[in-house]
Amino acid sequence: MEDSIQKVTDLIRRSQKVIVFTGAGVSTESGIPDFRSPGGVWQKYNPEDFYYQKFISSEESREKYWQMSREFYEPLKNARPNAAHEAVAELERMGKLDCVITQNIDNLHQRAGSSPQKVIELHGTAVSVSCLSCRKKYTREEIQSWLLRDVKVPRCDACGGILKPDTVSFGQSMPVRETEEAFHRARNCDLFIVIGSSLVVQPAASVPLEAKEAGAKLVIINREPTYHDSYADVVIHGSAGEVMSKVLEYLKTK
Ligand code: APR
Repeated sequence: MEDSIQKVTDLIRRSQKVIVFTGAGVSTESGIPDFRSPGGVWQKYNPEDFYYQKFISSEESREKYWQMSREFYEPLKNARPNAAHEAVAELERMGKLDCVITQNIDNLHQRAGSSPQKVIELHGTAVSVSCLSCRKKYTREEIQSWLLRDVKVPRCDACGGILKPDTVSFGQSMPVRETEEAFHRARNCDLFIVIGSSLVVQPAASVPLEAKEAGAKLVIINREPTYHDSYADVVIHGSAGEVMSKVLEYLKTK
């Protein structure tokens, strides 16, 4: 592990444009469960129930969705950035970071100090809610207060339309600007570091390969093997917080 951490540190030293790409595994040490580890979200809930088409077509699906959302909002709201998020913000302060591309919706990179304009949220954000008809925006906090007053399926108080968090559900189209920006930046970086993703969900999982094919070095830091380990120049199977803390420590001292 030490040898691999030294390799990652050397790659960062030699790089001018580093991209960090994160998944749910970067936030589990902040108390937010990931999706595919044992005990993850998709072991507790059936992803089939959370497809966008179901959400917009059935009141029953919306009720199930909001029940899960209400349950997961508390750990999300109370979560604090961990050492991995802080290390990414530090890389930005060191002038090394081109951007963070995240699949996460928890806003923890921004709360750790990463500049919002340098955080590309491929799967949207859980901190706001929009009306699918009139686009009126609400804070997720406000909608949580409705849910805690036993509103089962929140409706827009301006037009009666369907409300949905500003996250991207399965079957929902990806945000065009963010997706194009992520692939464009991946093609123009010199080092691409994946932290805490199983790399199974498309199109996000293709972004690291785009960087590799365009000539960047690829590093994967993940507790378990990922779908794309074989493409990486360096693979570290370990904890995001621990590994990234050591990388920053080495960067500053060795
Ligand atoms: N340190 C390092 N790796 C970790 C840690 C940790 N503390 N905790 C979990 N992991 C690893 C797991 O081993 C797993 O391989 O992070 C990975 C998380 O993978 P997933 O749960 O599949 O999450 P992610 O890759 O972000 O999923 C992508 O799927 O359901 C959709 O929209 C959802 O954005 C999500 C997308």
